Amino acid sequence: MNFKEQILQGIPKELPALKPYDTSINHAPKRKEILTVEEKKLAVRNALRYFDAKHHAVLGPEFAHELNEYGRIYMYRFIPEVEMYARPIDEYPHKCKQAAAIMLMIQNNLNHAVAQHPHELITYGGNGAVFQNWGQYLLTMQYLANMTEEQTLHMYSGHPMGLFPSHKEAPRVVVTNGMMIPNYSKPDDWEKYNALGVTQYGQMTAGSYMYIGPQGIVHGTTITVLNAGRKVSKTGEGLEGKLFVTAGLGGMSGAQPKAGNIAGCISVTAEVNALATYKRHEQGWVDEVYEDLDELVARVNKAKSNKEVVSIAYQGNVVDVWEKFDEENVFIDLGSDQTSLHNPWAGGYYPVGYTVDESNEMMANDPERFKVAVQDTLRKHAIAVQRHTSKGTYFFDYGNAFLLEASRAGADIMAENGIDFKYPSYVQDIMGPMCFDFGFGPFRWVCTSGKSEDLAKTDKIAAEILTEMLKEAPEEIQQQMADNIKWINAANENKLVVGSQARILYADAEGRIKIATAFNKAIKNGEIGAVVLGRDHHDVSGTDSPYRETSNIYDGSQNTADMAIHNVIGDSFRGATWVSIHNGGGVGWGEVMNGGFGMLLDGTGDAERRLKNMLFYDVNNGIARRSWARNEEAVFAIKREMDRSPNLKVTLPNRAEDDLINNLF
Ligand SMILES: NC(=O)c1ccc[n+]([C@@H]2O[C@H](COP(=O)([O-])OP(=O)(O)OC[C@H]3O[C@@H](n4cnc5c(N)ncnc54)[C@H](O)[C@@H]3O)[C@@H](O)[C@H]2O)c1
Repeated sequence: MNFKEQILQGIPKELPALKPYDTSINHAPKRKEILTVEEKKLAVRNALRYFDAKHHAVLGPEFAHELNEYGRIYMYRFIPEVEMYARPIDEYPHKCKQAAAIMLMIQNNLNHAVAQHPHELITYGGNGAVFQNWGQYLLTMQYLANMTEEQTLHMYSGHPMGLFPSHKEAPRVVVTNGMMIPNYSKPDDWEKYNALGVTQYGQMTAGSYMYIGPQGIVHGTTITVLNAGRKVSKTGEGLEGKLFVTAGLGGMSGAQPKAGNIAGCISVTAEVNALATYKRHEQGWVDEVYEDLDELVARVNKAKSNKEVVSIAYQGNVVDVWEKFDEENVFIDLGSDQTSLHNPWAGGYYPVGYTVDESNEMMANDPERFKVAVQDTLRKHAIAVQRHTSKGTYFFDYGNAFLLEASRAGADIMAENGIDFKYPSYVQDIMGPMCFDFGFGPFRWVCTSGKSEDLAKTDKIAAEILTEMLKEAPEEIQQQMADNIKWINAANENKLVVGSQARILYADAEGRIKIATAFNKAIKNGEIGAVVLGRDHHDVSGTDSPYRETSNIYDGSQNTADMAIHNVIGDSFRGATWVSIHNGGGVGWGEVMNGGFGMLLDGTGDAERRLKNMLFYDVNNGIARRSWARNEEAVFAIKREMDRSPNLKVTLPNRAEDDLINNLF
């Protein structure tokens, strides 16, 4: 059966053969036992809803086995025979091109070279799901293949509720992931309701079909490392010969070594999972791998004395690296961590002293003991970091909930005021004031032709536009623009593409609109094929996350989620092709609300009108909120935008004098 036939048939009428469990690929860890016997029956009953009753006698026991064995029902039997990757847009059976673009993005998120646990439909972050099971995938693709511009597909946490009549200007797909009544949004609620098959954790870009491989994060990480380097620079010197230590070579964390190389430092990234380490090494994302700590120390010292630019992976637990470097007096200039601590009890963070297999076994069979082991490790981790920071290391939280979970584990990690942590988050110190408050965020695009020539042409267009804009840019944003021009000029050379022909570029509202308009024109002129625009949810306006994207909001509103909700609603009627809103992306279920969009540029006047209207709101919504929180950079940016755009009228804050406030109580 070819790809088109596979998509058009949806859920097959006759059962495909049951395939053996493929041990050659990276699988999700077994999820913990959470359901009662009655709830397990409900989970199987729920899964069987997708299939004709004549198959229930075969599928019922099979799904019960999956639930017992893996903690979830993935419906492995229905994994498509055809290869999963983003085929060019014309290869999808479709009645409307927007739907074909969405199929392309779904395929990319399930590509084995891109996805972390492809058979469990997990793209990244250990639990960032595109769908809960293969039945949902097959049905969704079939709906998309048949939908017209007069319909909208509504996705409930991976489940396609159906096609509803709408209109040409409406989004073709509306996605929600993990939307819960607030009281049911604790980590175990995800375990339970996901096991029942009624909700999923969409991460940020997995469940919104916008993940583009680790490139998406290389750029942000490069900017972060560069600016962290500027913070530790005493005499204006760069990162040459300086050491950056971190952990994680997974979905997003795998970008760290590459970012370290682009920023020009020595990086050491620890990774416990050998499959992840060697996958990144084979892909060329990390230069060298060491499994022995003494050899690692010797290699790092050599790199320091030669001022090499090199990325080194340590195959093992990161805590061992922090402790060893302390014993051996290896000075760390910059330190961070990107283990998946948004998901500490289900495989996001591995305790020291156990192999990955031992940990996985303990996680499934003795979750309480596993929790104790994780918390012991977190305390050790924090102590080792502190030893280094007392010698002068600049440590920042990389938005993975390291500080949050370490504090919950009782580590000595709180500042003296008992409210803040000892170390800043990268958003508080770097990303917030330097990027988000000015509207700079991770704009991205995918060339749907699948041609690398198209990507090269879009890079050139974007570089020309930014270079032009730099000439007129105010001093406040010149550094950001210069970093982004440097990035886009070198992007092709840095071979960042894994999966679809995609590019990421931090840009502000004006830059995003100008670049997108120029792409649309190039499509109209036949210079390139259609382009999908999008962004990470991790952006100016998409995400309310008090320990990350909104951690530099200090008016008390960092725990509210109005901005993300306005964003998704606002984008939906301004022309987005699809919109999504998620609970939990990045830092964990219940900790954040995040939203995003996708938009197809097809060279038409409609596309130009939509992009201008939607991108303007998509960025300025967040700047307005950041400005209302009294963030100076955002006040500057929104005033500048109001000067340019007469229809924009934003409420500006008045500042109260400290003396007046301090004498009130
Ligand atoms: N702020 C950002 O822009 C940003 C960017 C990327 C990631 N993050 C956060 O970083 C985390 C990682 O994301 P990801 O997609 O790479 O997740 P991932 O699960 O794909 O990768 C994390 C990796 O850490 C490894 N690991 C876990 N415990 C370890 C330990 N003790 N020592 C060494 N390695 C260990 C795991 O084996 C895994 O491969 C997430 O929480 C994510 O939300 C934030």
